[in-house]
Amino acid sequence: MKLIKNIVGLQAELKDQSIIGLVPTMGNIHDGHLSLINLAKKSSSFVICSIFVNPLQFNDDSDFAKYPRTLEADLEKLRLSGTDLVFFPHFKEIYPTRQEFFIDVPDYLGNILEGEFRQNFFSHVSTIVLKLIIITNPKFVFFGNKDYQQAIVVKKLCEQFCLGCNFIQGDTVRDNGGLALSSRNAYLSSTEKVQATELYQHLYAAKIELITAFDHKSLNSEQLLEIEKRHRMQLTKKGWRVDYFTIMNKRIFRRPIEPTKEFNTLIILSAAWLGKTRLIDNLEII
Ligand code: PAJ
Repeated sequence: MKLIKNIVGLQAELKDQSIIGLVPTMGNIHDGHLSLINLAKKSSSFVICSIFVNPLQFNDDSDFAKYPRTLEADLEKLRLSGTDLVFFPHFKEIYPTRQEFFIDVPDYLGNILEGEFRQNFFSHVSTIVLKLIIITNPKFVFFGNKDYQQAIVVKKLCEQFCLGCNFIQGDTVRDNGGLALSSRNAYLSSTEKVQATELYQHLYAAKIELITAFDHKSLNSEQLLEIEKRHRMQLTKKGWRVDYFTIMNKRIFRRPIEPTKEFNTLIILSAAWLGKTRLIDNLEII
């Protein structure tokens, strides 16, 4: 496995590679990331994992400072997974001068849900992802469904900037209790870790309620609102601080207008705080 920190060295390594697959990460590699590496290996002859904790996409400096950095352990996991090259640039390599140009994400995608709670988040994610794609020129890029809104934004970015790479989404990897793997789970205490599965349980319960209402031909907009409100309240009662618990149409990323007709497209997305840790998760109806 090659370890490369600079763009010139990276491009020298890549010039003879034909089918490059790129898995962008911020490190603290877990089985969620490794599932994307495995997916990449199926279609690509050369798999790159980038590790870059992008300061611009963090809202506050302390969140950035405490983000888990575990490079040695990451490299070991990536080596075992069969990754061909790890690109882990310094800040100055990615931002040689103060960044002045950013991707302008449309409001309907960038300013709702995650975007409502994290200012300019998707603009900054799009900007770093665009840089990584330009640098590596991959045939395939891989993103996890765990960060569903991010995946939709990057998919559009690839399409609309003619980047010539195919966008591939991978399923969310969960632990035995259902908790979606995330680098931020490291912040949870052992009791919080047990409680954290409640977020998935509520998403799952809401999914069953949607399916049941659909089967009884009683699914309508009021019912969606009622389901969302009830789960927000129940999570709050259990000690969570809920940023959102929202049902969307995943194709157009808007609230469903005719839930019955849009049933196959429904997705439930949530972000909530457990103590000092903010977790996000989602569940598709099918
Ligand atoms: P990071 O949080 O490290 O995630 C890197 C990739 O792994 C993302 O595509 C994310 O959706 C995926 N991922 C995380 N947890 C997962 C899980 N439990 N199951 C499946 N996939 C999972 O997302 C970022 O980094 C950054 O925003 C980045 C795209 C690298 C830009 O800085």
